[in-house]
Amino acid sequence: MYKKLIENPTVHCVSEPQLNLFSYTEENNLKEDFKIISNTNNVEFESLGKSTLIGNGNCVDYLKFIEANSIDLILTDPPYNLGVFMHKRNTNLVKMRKNQFAYAGWDNLSQEDWEKEMDVFFKESSRVLKKKGTLLLFMSLIKIETIIKMASKYRFYYKTTGIWHKTNPMPRNMNIHFVNSTEAWVYFVYNNTSGTFNNAGKMEHDFIETSLTSSKEKKFGKHPTQKPIKIISHFIKLLSNKNDVVLDPFMGSGTTGVCARKMSRKFIGIDLDKKYYELSKLEC
Ligand SMILES: C[S@@+](CC[C@H](N)C(=O)[O-])C[C@H]1O[C@@H](n2cnc3c(N)ncnc32)[C@H](O)[C@@H]1O
Repeated sequence: MYKKLIENPTVHCVSEPQLNLFSYTEENNLKEDFKIISNTNNVEFESLGKSTLIGNGNCVDYLKFIEANSIDLILTDPPYNLGVFMHKRNTNLVKMRKNQFAYAGWDNLSQEDWEKEMDVFFKESSRVLKKKGTLLLFMSLIKIETIIKMASKYRFYYKTTGIWHKTNPMPRNMNIHFVNSTEAWVYFVYNNTSGTFNNAGKMEHDFIETSLTSSKEKKFGKHPTQKPIKIISHFIKLLSNKNDVVLDPFMGSGTTGVCARKMSRKFIGIDLDKKYYELSKLEC
């Protein structure tokens, strides 16, 4: 957690249409408690220390403000957009999921609108990533093929689909079907066939196993799809180096930021929802 929350930040208004955020902070010797506000876009980044910048809004607007070729790793967990699909299903699951992602509000676009948003996300991600930069995103298994097709349009080289297995899933309807205990992640490298992969000569399997996010990791508040620190740290370690810039455009409670800070990476995080944005300030 970044303990000192911003009270009177120094405000930097910039008129450049795009900015290399950390070059700007270094050139202007910004250390902590500052905001970078764009005069041309509807974008406002707040600092949590000198190496973490977060913004509250639609990531598409924020991504457009980030300079091309300035990010090393995008590690993110976008909406799977299963809300409409879940609502239509006439099962007990619908009732049981009332407090789950399907009712979270950001997960129920039409398939067409979701694909349009994800298309802009991939387009902008390909612009901001450095050549050989990495994109790893979590996704529902039933959407993987769609995601790979979309990403390949923007020169993302598909590497791996892997599995997160939850060792203690909710035993929903365990006597009538298989209990849902997995989510997928998809790994791409931009404009090259391989990128940073710090395996230190060790074989890395394409699945990771952890328990559900512990209540200790949720002590500042709840996010319905908060990822465990163990998984996010695993990917940051493997797919980036110290001082690299890690971006999470759908940061939720800020798990990627928490891990990036601990592992000495710079971090840029964005979330649309004010409530989760405020939570990420406590977490990061
Ligand atoms: C699956 S959650 C991410 C959870 C996160 N991995 C964590 O550990 O807390 C997806 C997040 O994306 C946010 N979101 C949805 N659409 C967005 C958009 N267009 N721009 C930015 N954030 C968005 C939601 O508010 C939600 O918090």
